[in-house]
Amino acid sequence: MLVHIPNVLTAEELAHCRRALQASPWVDGRLTAGDQAAKSKNNLQIPVDSDESRELGEIVLNALARNPTFNSAVLPLRVLPPMFNRYDVGMTFGAHVDNAIRTVPGTGGMRMRADISSTLFLTDPQDYDGGELVVEDTYGMQSVKLPAGDMVVYPSSSLHRVEPITRGSRWGSFFWSQSMVKDDGLRAMLYDLDIAIIETRRQLDDDNPAVLGLVNHYHNLLRRWAEL
Ligand code: NI
Repeated sequence: MLVHIPNVLTAEELAHCRRALQASPWVDGRLTAGDQAAKSKNNLQIPVDSDESRELGEIVLNALARNPTFNSAVLPLRVLPPMFNRYDVGMTFGAHVDNAIRTVPGTGGMRMRADISSTLFLTDPQDYDGGELVVEDTYGMQSVKLPAGDMVVYPSSSLHRVEPITRGSRWGSFFWSQSMVKDDGLRAMLYDLDIAIIETRRQLDDDNPAVLGLVNHYHNLLRRWAEL
């Protein structure tokens, strides 16, 4: 399931992130890639242990915490600190799959499973050419290029790539989440049910037996499927 989440960052947060990234040092992006992925990766990142990375990562994490769509679609248990990358002209990231297991920085080696990959766009599409995120979904190839401040989430198990940049520079934040529901199909059913409940609650009172029954069913499925 691939979900587009609009307006994750406010205009002020976006402007702040762009200003801070402008002043940041950038290093080779291969440092955080797995062995196969590193061979096809050609981009720049800000160092994960830098002050900028920590400060901007906090902004992104706070934005996620207040976003109902992210929480419904991802059902996050853990979120790896967000990282920041850029692709200048000629840079690209060929087809790869993200590592299944990640070490959480600053925890003395605690590991988490990467169930869901997120890309938060920090450059408006009119400011660069190329740079589409292409994800092989169960319904075929999906090409994603979103307004600055918008985000896409997709299963970390899917093969994906970033097309070469032919003009401008594409900046973004990316990170992985471990979901309470690791199976993408089950998680998608919970997301669909949540959307149906939201629509039902628009049309019926909260004490309507149909609303109560659906909400009850949602929580009982979550209780059955969630692993903490
Ligand atoms: Ni990737």
